[in-house]
Amino acid sequence: MYKKAVLSLLAFCLASSSLVVNSQEKVRLGSPLSQEDLEGFDLIAAPDGSGFPAGSGTAQDGKAVYDINCAVCHGINGEGTTNNTVIVGGDIQSEGPPLRTVGSYWPYASTVFDFIRRAMPATAPKSLTDKQVYQVTAYVLFMNGIIQEEMELNADNLPTIKMPNADGFIDRSHIQ
Ligand code: HEC
Repeated sequence: MYKKAVLSLLAFCLASSSLVVNSQEKVRLGSPLSQEDLEGFDLIAAPDGSGFPAGSGTAQDGKAVYDINCAVCHGINGEGTTNNTVIVGGDIQSEGPPLRTVGSYWPYASTVFDFIRRAMPATAPKSLTDKQVYQVTAYVLFMNGIIQEEMELNADNLPTIKMPNADGFIDRSHIQ
């Protein structure tokens, strides 16, 4: 009786392990990433100035990039088309619910560049060239009154731009 139970358990294990093998054969896990694929994810442009690509651009040139690629969702002046697509204006100190935008909330201009480069336009992320990202980042900063229209934004000066809400955060990164 006992022996029979062990044998049928063994038979069950063998059957189920072959099931696993079969199902693994059916799972399509895709193909390995190439070095080039990986580079498409290696996009961190940090507030310390690291990770920026070569290139530069002004808000003057960024207007055309913005009008074609961004205005449909963010409005022609950054006023947005929904609550979470407003990227200009806002008051973080407001007594009502504060409106968080690039101008009112974001602490680093480098993060604006980084975010646009990896995530925008929302329907076609990473479709802009690095030059276009510099240009359109300059335009978004210009619309928020943070830089001049003719300022040539580049890897050196982007991290030095002081954002209106730069001091609105408490650094608790030292607490694990
Ligand atoms: C198809 C619509 C769409 C297009 C086109 C688009 N965006 Fe966005 N964008 C969004 C949405 C939706 C969000 C909010 C995403 C979220 O909160 O996670 C957003 C967020 C952002 C933010 C962050 C706003 C904030 O304060 O949190 C920035 C900056 C931005 N977009 C810039 C751009 C730029 C520059 C372009 C053009 C190159 C662009 N977007 C094109 C839909 C779009």
